[in-house]
Amino acid sequence: MKKQEKIVSMFDDIAPTYDKANRIMSMGVDRTWRRKGCDKAFGYYGKSSVDMIVDVACGTGDMMDYWQRRAKAAEISVDRLVGVDPSEGMVGVGKEKFSDFEFMIAPATDIPLENESADMLSISYGIRNVVERQKGLAEFNRVLKPGGMVVILEFMKNENPSFLGKIRDFYMNSILPKVGGFISKNREAYEYLPNSIEGFLTVAKMQDELEEAGFEVLYTESFSMDISTLIIARKKQ
Ligand SMILES: C[S@@+](CC[C@H](N)C(=O)[O-])C[C@H]1O[C@@H](n2cnc3c(N)ncnc32)[C@H](O)[C@@H]1O
Repeated sequence: MKKQEKIVSMFDDIAPTYDKANRIMSMGVDRTWRRKGCDKAFGYYGKSSVDMIVDVACGTGDMMDYWQRRAKAAEISVDRLVGVDPSEGMVGVGKEKFSDFEFMIAPATDIPLENESADMLSISYGIRNVVERQKGLAEFNRVLKPGGMVVILEFMKNENPSFLGKIRDFYMNSILPKVGGFISKNREAYEYLPNSIEGFLTVAKMQDELEEAGFEVLYTESFSMDISTLIIARKKQ
């Protein structure tokens, strides 16, 4: 099996317990990060109505729920909200949770949407799983309108960890695989998480790749001992 297929099949396997494991492991702090991503992006975009928001690697749909709720709070009307993910297992759980949401089974590298049709595109804890990342970023650029926003939430590699960063690494490398493995009965999947972060990009490198793919990076912030990073970029006009 190719690396990308293996990753998707791993998510198919852990889909039934994904939400439970996520809630316990993140201790709920991801709520603040997700909310901030939506609010900041709406703020930069500055429009009171949008045609389409796309959540790539949507998994079980939580980020879509945040988009809907934050749009409502800011009185922004959203015509269409679409979730895209190649894992049928993850999307299956999403459909049960959010029966009125629109989901598509597809990878980040081949999004079944028209050119320049989306106002916003998010990917939360998903870009790390896209093996052909440059192809994915080019696809985000194709789907977004000029001036459209991309919102990335991710666990980025930290090259020079501070003391707190080392605690984070210990949590990620030693505690999390045990907890996630226990809940999902799939230890391998939760060992993949720290390994994939270690093999992933630093924030600076991610910014460079976004710029190369035709985006202007507007905002970056790392939260909670640098566990999670938010990057907001705009497609160049
Ligand atoms: C850690 S989950 C994140 C799910 C969701 N965005 C969230 O915040 O809870 C990663 C997701 O990436 C998806 N994924 C894996 N490979 C992908 C690809 N090539 N393109 C898009 N999504 C992918 C997986 O199926 C999985 O649902």
